[in-house]
Parts: sequence; C-alpha cells; structure tokens
Amino acid sequence: MHDTCNVVVLLSGTGGNLQAMIDSFQSAASPARIRAVISNRADAYGLERARNAGIDTRVLDHTAYEGREAFDAALIDQIDAFKPELVVLAGFMRILSANFVRHYQGRLLNIHPSLLPLYKGLHTHQRVLEAGDAEHGCSVHFVTEELDGGPLVVQAIVCVQSSDSPGTLAQRVHALEHRIYPLAVRWFAEGRLSLGEQGALLDGQLLGPNGHLIPAI
Ligand code: GRF
Repeated sequence: MHDTCNVVVLLSGTGGNLQAMIDSFQSAASPARIRAVISNRADAYGLERARNAGIDTRVLDHTAYEGREAFDAALIDQIDAFKPELVVLAGFMRILSANFVRHYQGRLLNIHPSLLPLYKGLHTHQRVLEAGDAEHGCSVHFVTEELDGGPLVVQAIVCVQSSDSPGTLAQRVHALEHRIYPLAVRWFAEGRLSLGEQGALLDGQLLGPNGHLIPAI
C-alpha cells in the first residue's frame, strides 16, 4: 500500500475538471486526496464546488502583487502550506514563472483543450474548426517552462463533425477532459506515473510522444 497523495488544485474558473476529480477521488480508499483548491479569482465557481465538498480553499488575487515573480512566490507559500505531492492546474489562467515551474518539477500537471503540440494557447475549438481538422481532443502533460509544452501523459481524441460549432466541440472535449484528468492524477497518486529525463514514464516505461492515447469512439 502507498500513502495517500495530497493534491492541491489551482483554478480560475468553473472547475469542471475539479468536480470530475472530486467525484473520482471521494472514496476513503482513493489514492489521491484533494487537500486544497486555490484560485486567483474570488468569484471562481470552482471555489464553491470545493467548499461543497468540504475542501479547504484559498484566494490569492494576482492584481494585489507587484509582478509575476512576487505573485508566484506568494502562491508557492500558500501551496506548500498544504504539503502536496502533486499540484494540478485545472483552468488556472495565469502564465507561471520559471521559478514556479522549477519548484514543482515532476509534480505539476496541466490539461489543455487540444491535441498538443497543436493549438497551444486560447480559442482552440474555434481554431480547429477554422483549420478544417478532422480530429480534435485534449491533453494532460507535465508542466515545463514552455507554455503548453512539457511531456505528454495522456491524450483523448474526438472526431470533428461538419455540424460542429466551437460550443458543441467544447462540450465533447470537456467530457473527455473529465475522464483523462482524474485518470492521470490517479496514475501519479498510485506511483505509476513520473517524469523522467526523457519524458513521462508510466509503469517505468517511457510514454510515446503523444502520451497514452485514447482513440475516438
Ligand atoms: C479546460 O478546458 C481546460 O482544458 C483548460 O481550462 C478549462 C478549464 O475548465 N485548461 P474547467 O474550469 O475545469 O471547467
């Protein structure tokens, strides 16, 4: 048996991914325990989801700090007070400093609504439609200093339909996010997932360039 893995979740918005993790890790036997949810926005609905689940919350307003380094240093203090083994970015709309990323090297995960390395940044669903792509999806990756870069852990694919709008596509991608993010966190909590020199390792095996790939159904 391994010890429970303490997780701190950072978010800025609605917290759909947080909810998926709350639901997935609610049993007492779960390998992961969400210790705290921290937001840079006091009005993030994700904070309410956390409170409803009895999870500690903190708000750290980035506008109250003089610059990114000062905010990130304060954020590190808040996070580390909970002694997490893993920090999970779940719609945290801040670019993180190199210091922050280095501090959590190998224990910082992010989810992005595209098949990385395609469509880094914002408005991914719109951009996929404009490009006429046949496939879209979402990616969980270890965070490195490159924005939306870092070794991939798991990707899930959706087929783009000719009738899709950014909204319908977002809905299907979100449903998949809510499957793959708890899965990746569970792997980490069980000690199966780690970041090696060459990339992400699952059960000691180097994952391919796409991570573990879940094909479209
Ligand atoms: C998701 O689309 C995620 O991929 C991106 O931010 C969004 C967060 O959504 N990083 P939610 O707040 O978890 O519902």
